[in-house]
Amino acid sequence: MRSLVVGNWKMHGLGAEAAALARGVREGAAGMAAALVVCPPFTQIAAVAAILAGSVVGVGGQDCHPEPAGAHTGDISAPMLSDAGARFVILGHSERRAGHGESDALVRAKAVAAAKAGLRPIVCVGEDEEERAAGRAEGRVAEQLAGSLPPDFSGIVAYEPVWAIGSGRTPGAEDIAAMHALIRARLVGSFGAAGSAMPILYGGSVKPDNAAAILGLKEVGGGLIGGASLVAADFLAIAAAAPALSSPGMLH
Ligand code: PGA
Repeated sequence: MRSLVVGNWKMHGLGAEAAALARGVREGAAGMAAALVVCPPFTQIAAVAAILAGSVVGVGGQDCHPEPAGAHTGDISAPMLSDAGARFVILGHSERRAGHGESDALVRAKAVAAAKAGLRPIVCVGEDEEERAAGRAEGRVAEQLAGSLPPDFSGIVAYEPVWAIGSGRTPGAEDIAAMHALIRARLVGSFGAAGSAMPILYGGSVKPDNAAAILGLKEVGGGLIGGASLVAADFLAIAAAAPALSSPGMLH
């Protein structure tokens, strides 16, 4: 499995800038040891997927509805993402959990829907600052894993401490490694051999200057990158810092 470096563009990207960013990532991605995915806003997925077609860079959505279609004004379903060219979808990001009241149960339903549509879910978990200060970080993450991953989950987990997102702060290497070890143990406990192979990404203020130290930690299978993924050179520098793990080819 290669390191997986995923760009979460969040609510950024009008047509011209999204196209330029996608072209920049495409140009720099050839020959990278890491696998790359970019997750543009819904409105840019089809255009970005067209730019990245035939390249080594995959495309993902940032959310999906649990139903495949229906009377859900403003929502986007997993089959729609797939139809637009996405192969991945970020689910349960803390900005959706906080800003849209998403529960673990809803995230789990979305993960089921994503898999049904042939998308690989990237399920986010992570404690907030208060939980970490109270010594409840590991308990919170274990609870989110138990509630957010369906019984037949086959995807990617992203550990994103809420307080590290967009803040320029990251946990220490030991804290990241400890949480990734806990997540690995939970995945193996729940999914057996499949759980030992699931990528566990770290996300939260990963930048070119800290990427090698973070992405090289044991059980860190790559990164989920927000702010730094909006600058092609920074995103590519982060991807270049990710260690080569082993066999290429899972994206296409
Ligand atoms: P950040 O965001 O890299 O800007 O901290 C990460 C994320 O929210 O996925």
